[in-house]
Amino acid sequence: MEFKELEDLIKTRKSIRRWQQKPVPENMLLKAVELATWAPSGGNLQNWHFYIIIARDTINAIADAVQSTVDLMASWPEAGEFGDTFKNYSQFSTFFRSAPAAIAVASSRYQSIADRLLEMRESVDFQAKEMREWRKTADSRIQSTSAAVAYLLLILHQMGLGATWMTGPIQAAGAIQKILRVPPGWEIVTFIPVGYPDEQPRPGRRKSVSEVAEVIK
Ligand SMILES: Cc1cc2nc3c(=O)[nH]c(=O)nc-3n(C[C@H](O)[C@H](O)[C@H](O)COP(=O)(O)O)c2cc1C
Repeated sequence: MEFKELEDLIKTRKSIRRWQQKPVPENMLLKAVELATWAPSGGNLQNWHFYIIIARDTINAIADAVQSTVDLMASWPEAGEFGDTFKNYSQFSTFFRSAPAAIAVASSRYQSIADRLLEMRESVDFQAKEMREWRKTADSRIQSTSAAVAYLLLILHQMGLGATWMTGPIQAAGAIQKILRVPPGWEIVTFIPVGYPDEQPRPGRRKSVSEVAEVIK
């Protein structure tokens, strides 16, 4: 692959939130997930599990669960503080109902040796407690799963599919986990609706490199 092709692939990927009502072949989704699992993961634990959902009933059930959490939140008096911004947020959490397919990504809990050592020591040693907090902030399981999700979005884009990385539905994680029969010790951390795009979003914009990076020399 030429470097320019990689650059184009990266720069033309956009979050897609409207899809053609055309089924997505199961094999394409399986292939995309297989390639995504070549992402790096902490300790090479590959602590991810992908629920490839093509059953309309299941997508509807998940959308209903998310809608009811959003409706509940909208009913709270505090939601008034956010006015229309909360309405937009609701829309950004529930639009996936029309997606022909979705991939819910679960991540399992694990502790590295460093985490286990710091946990044993933190109650008697402030430095160990602080070190443990820093490690929690940079949670390996979320970083590992996110690496696979980032790969997945690019692979789906290369396949001509459109997707959106979503955490909006996570407030309904309890219900989603029941619907998908996620086993104990695993949690849904990302939800990705997928399908053939029915929109052409405007090209993305990014902060300049000088704004987000510095060279230490
Ligand atoms: C961790 C994460 C969570 C996100 N959650 C949502 C979401 O719940 N709903 C949504 O519409 N977009 C969600 N997005 C998509 C972002 O809004 C989108 O990536 C960003 O605006 C940049 O646009 P682009 O993906 O088209 O380049 C999420 C993205 C990330 C990385």
